[in-house]
Amino acid sequence: MDLMKLILLPLFYACFSAHCAGTTNARKSACMIKNAKADCSHMNLDAIPTDLPTNITTLDVSHNRLKTLSSLHMYTNLVNIDASYNSLAGIEKDLCLSLPHLQFLNVQHNQVYLISEKNLKNCFHLTQLDLSDNKLKLQGEPFSLLKNLTWLDVSRNKLTSAKLGTEPQLPNLVTLVLSGNNINILQENDFSFLSNSSSFRVLILSSLILKKVENGCFKAIDTLSDLVLDSSKLTSQFTTSLFEELADTALRNLSLKSTEQVTLSNTTFQGLEKTKITVLDLSENRISKIVDGAFQWLPQLEFLSLEHNTIRHLTNDSFSGLGNLRQLNLRKALIKSHASLPVIDDFSFQHLVQLEYLCMANTAFRELTEQIFSGLRNLKTLDLSWSITGIKTVTNKTFAGLQESPLLQTLNLTGMGINKLEPGAFSSLGNLSNLLMSRNFINQQLQGNEFKGLSNIKEIDMSINQQSISLTNASFVHVSTLRTLKLGRALKGTLDMEPSPFRPLVNLTILDLSNNNIANINADLLEGLYNLKVVKMQHNNLARLWKMANPGGPVLFLKDATNLSYLNLDYNGIDEIPPNAFRGFSELHELSLRGNLLDQLHASVFDDLNSLKYLHLQKNLITSVQRATFGVPLSKLKELNMDHNPFDCTCESILWFSEWLNSTNTSVPGFPQSYICNTPNAYFNHSVMNFDPLSCKDMTPFKALYILSSTAVLMLLFISFLVHFQGWRIQFYWNIMVNRMLGSLKDAKVTEGRFQFDAYIIHAGEDKSWVERSLLSLEDKDLNFFYEQRDSTPGHSRLETIVDNMVYSRKIIFVITEMLLKDPWCRQFKAHHALHHVMEDNRDSLILIFLEDVTDYNLNRSLHLRRGMLKPKCVLYWPLHKERIPAFHQKLRSALASTNKVN
Ligand SMILES: *[C@@H]1O[C@H](CO)[C@@H](O)[C@H](O)[C@H]1NC(C)=O
Ligand SMILES: *[C@@H]1O[C@H](CO)[C@@H](O)[C@H](O)[C@H]1NC(C)=O
Ligand SMILES: *[C@@H]1O[C@H](CO)[C@@H](O)[C@H](O)[C@H]1NC(C)=O
Ligand SMILES: *[C@@H]1O[C@H](CO)[C@@H](O)[C@H](O)[C@H]1NC(C)=O
Ligand SMILES: *[C@@H]1O[C@H](CO)[C@@H](O)[C@H](O)[C@H]1NC(C)=O
Ligand SMILES: *[C@@H]1O[C@H](CO)[C@@H](O)[C@H](O)[C@H]1NC(C)=O
Ligand SMILES: *[C@@H]1O[C@H](CO)[C@@H](O)[C@H](O)[C@H]1NC(C)=O
Ligand SMILES: *[C@@H]1O[C@H](CO)[C@@H](O)[C@H](O)[C@H]1NC(C)=O
Repeated sequence: MDLMKLILLPLFYACFSAHCAGTTNARKSACMIKNAKADCSHMNLDAIPTDLPTNITTLDVSHNRLKTLSSLHMYTNLVNIDASYNSLAGIEKDLCLSLPHLQFLNVQHNQVYLISEKNLKNCFHLTQLDLSDNKLKLQGEPFSLLKNLTWLDVSRNKLTSAKLGTEPQLPNLVTLVLSGNNINILQENDFSFLSNSSSFRVLILSSLILKKVENGCFKAIDTLSDLVLDSSKLTSQFTTSLFEELADTALRNLSLKSTEQVTLSNTTFQGLEKTKITVLDLSENRISKIVDGAFQWLPQLEFLSLEHNTIRHLTNDSFSGLGNLRQLNLRKALIKSHASLPVIDDFSFQHLVQLEYLCMANTAFRELTEQIFSGLRNLKTLDLSWSITGIKTVTNKTFAGLQESPLLQTLNLTGMGINKLEPGAFSSLGNLSNLLMSRNFINQQLQGNEFKGLSNIKEIDMSINQQSISLTNASFVHVSTLRTLKLGRALKGTLDMEPSPFRPLVNLTILDLSNNNIANINADLLEGLYNLKVVKMQHNNLARLWKMANPGGPVLFLKDATNLSYLNLDYNGIDEIPPNAFRGFSELHELSLRGNLLDQLHASVFDDLNSLKYLHLQKNLITSVQRATFGVPLSKLKELNMDHNPFDCTCESILWFSEWLNSTNTSVPGFPQSYICNTPNAYFNHSVMNFDPLSCKDMTPFKALYILSSTAVLMLLFISFLVHFQGWRIQFYWNIMVNRMLGSLKDAKVTEGRFQFDAYIIHAGEDKSWVERSLLSLEDKDLNFFYEQRDSTPGHSRLETIVDNMVYSRKIIFVITEMLLKDPWCRQFKAHHALHHVMEDNRDSLILIFLEDVTDYNLNRSLHLRRGMLKPKCVLYWPLHKERIPAFHQKLRSALASTNKVN
């Protein structure tokens, strides 16, 4: 066991350190194997490892010290071998016999010397073979058996001839790379070995010193379409004869990058007249003079690059003949020298009637004259970025010539030293959709008329203008079609104006106001901009606006931007977010609040963010991450960035988050090393990952105690409320219960026979006629009421009458109307007495007849009665409809007949 440890421990540490070293080229001690790929590069191996899975298909043994490829035969499934940067002296005989599936073999940067048919026998499937940077000496026809090879690289092998065989071979070859050899002459039959290669297309002859090309040398490869001669030193005699030889090929792309061309004369390209060349790359030469008519031979040319040359002068015939050109790259083609600026004449581009894209980035020329771009009828994109000309003031004449380019969509004026836009500066560019003017020095208040005439504009970029542009509420009135407005690090002055400068931009989707120190805005800044998708306001000063203490309350400047999908408020000093700041932001995909001062967040502040995919909250003061606040925004997240916050690693603050981190599939860059606990002491400077969720289990007894005590308090509260609001009912039933227990003995004796009247009627004086008409009329031999006005003994006091006769009445009927409730006599005495009677005699003897609707509250206040005290059958309502009166009578009779016992 111990021995095992001794062996394994150093191995473990070695692995560990290699792992930590990450992408550096530190040596591995074991091959990395992943999905049938074995990476054994940079291991200082001198033999192929024999302990790899036998079913690997890709093996990388580059950058080792291998001298042979023996023992590869074990891995019979290999398709791809990279053995570059080793010390191989040759290719194993019968290599392909044991590796029948081999398709890609890379042995560049070795010492491979002699190579013959034997070495590549049986390599039927081989499609790519890289033998560059060796010392090849070909014996016989080494490639003749590679029936399926499409790509062969024999660069930098000191080969003196392009002739790699005598017999026709390589029938599937597409690309042959011969760069950097000692080939000076292309001989007549050099490429005859490719005469049966009908797919051959690309010949790369870079970095050669070619002196001579013999007549007919491309005859065998007339399917050639791409010829690359980059970095070869080509004299004009050579190019002249080369182009003539190419006449009968299918040449389309010719690259002459960095070939020391100096002058393009009116005959330089004459030989290409008979080709179908469409792409010509002349970049990185030292061309200083283009003779008029130099390109007249290339009427089919579509792409021309003159990037990075030293042209001094373009005239109105420099590009004559290029009537089919679509793209012209003049980036850095004209440069300043000896304090004098090159000149571009008026009408220099007049022949380029099909030109769609003109790049003049980083060029230097004397003046942007009015007719300079005349004739560019199909121009769609003009890139003048960083051209050293410098416009300073854009007047209504500057681009007037572009009126003849009605299709112009993109004008790139990045970094042109512009400091003023005059009214109508772009008025001739009615179809322009993208106006890019970042990194200038525009210093003015935009009145709106600067953009007059841009009736199809979609994007204006004025970012990085040194914070010297100020806005008015008319600034954008002429560009209401705008969708993208970039004003990052461009603005000075206030945006706190009504209406907002952005109010006309109803279709605006992207607004960048970052890096402007904006501190004062009002809630209507984005008013009506319902189409906004992207708002960037990072690096401003918006903290005050969201404070609850802000006079007038928080400023909800995002209120109309509810369709936002990206919002950036990084570095704004924000320490409070109003609970409704993100209300309705259900489409928000990415929210960035990094570098603020956020700590306690309102529990519901993120509740509407249920589409959130990316959340950036790093470098805030967040201590606690709880489900109540973060449950919704973290639920569908793809990536969370919350590192560098002072987390409080206690159960209340971090338990939920640590469990979430432990189980989530969301990517959390920087976890665990940048998620560090700040408090409590026990976890100080430890990763949140080390937080022990089990420690929260100890909470259980306390939790129980807490639950118990809080329940008790709640109960107490409940009871006191109950007593307060329903006390009467409790008291009532209590009395009844007591009476029932005490009175049950008495009840046995007392028969109901002692009553003289079936009911005592209490009513207000005003209801007399109703009583006489509707109640007294019911009297018959089985039913008689005590009716004060009729039945009281004359001479008796009213009080006596009531007291005596109530006792002799089996029931007491209240005829309830608002009047009764107001009648002081009734209210005070009769009701008390009646109630008393009820309590005492344990009778459920009250019957209420409502003639009008009376609230329970009034009833209780005046008569100390509630409907709920009585049996439902004893509460009657006088019907409004005549036909229901018999039913009422029936109910009254049954109420009168009911027992007085509470049951
Ligand atoms: C290769 O073989 C190993 C067992 O030797 C097996 O676990 C693995 O799945 C195989 N891989 C492939 C890609 O077939
Ligand atoms: C050559 O390649 C083609 C397609 O890649 C394949 O179908 C064919 O079988 C290969 N022939 C040989 C002899 O490997
Ligand atoms: C080359 O092609 C010709 C006709 O296309 C054919 O007769 C000849 O056999 C081929 N040669 C080789 C070596 O494939
Ligand atoms: C080339 O230019 C010379 C003079 O500059 C002129 O005589 C000659 O005709 C031109 N050749 C062609 C083909 O344009
Ligand atoms: C250009 O501006 C000038 C004044 O600066 C004005 O007189 C002239 O009419 C304007 N031209 C056009 C075409 O708007
Ligand atoms: C405009 O020019 C700048 C600077 O060269 C470049 O970065 C940017 O991509 C260009 N924009 C377009 C739309 O071509
Ligand atoms: C805004 O976009 C809608 C739909 O694309 C379009 O119909 C409308 O004309 C646009 N409004 C402006 C002012 O460009
Ligand atoms: C993470 O999960 C594993 C198993 O699911 C568990 O053993 C471990 O304690 C958890 N760690 C934390 C910090 O929750």
